[in-house]
Amino acid sequence: MLTRIDHVGIACRSLQDKIAFYTATFGLTVVSQEVNEDQGVREAMLHVSDGPAGASYLQLLEPLGPDTPVGRFLDRRGEGVHHIGYGVANITAALAEIGATGVRLIDARPRHGSMGAAIAFLHPADLGGVLTELVEAPRRPGPAGA
Ligand code: CO
Repeated sequence: MLTRIDHVGIACRSLQDKIAFYTATFGLTVVSQEVNEDQGVREAMLHVSDGPAGASYLQLLEPLGPDTPVGRFLDRRGEGVHHIGYGVANITAALAEIGATGVRLIDARPRHGSMGAAIAFLHPADLGGVLTELVEAPRRPGPAGA
């Protein structure tokens, strides 16, 4: 069901400081920066690698305010790993399959994520304390329009 690690989400206080750090330290490239009002974050996606099942990224998340999910996370736990995002081929099918095992779905239906992806979060309390995200990447035009 899971095709790859799509991204690791890291909560930070200053997006610009962490972008500077990750580009200088690991030579990563920023491929997208956006504000997601819905999730209360300003975020950047940094490209890590390309694999047969698609690309992997680092996602840096800066809260838009203290009273947001990432703002509260920083308050409680400080900067660090916030969630893991796994790639799936069909997010609707994956949600149904995972939900049937008893894992609670934070998002029963997919919503809009970074770079045009469809995403959904699963409840960390049912996953060993790990906030888990499913990501279905947008379709890209393949060879011969496939
Ligand atoms: Co994410």
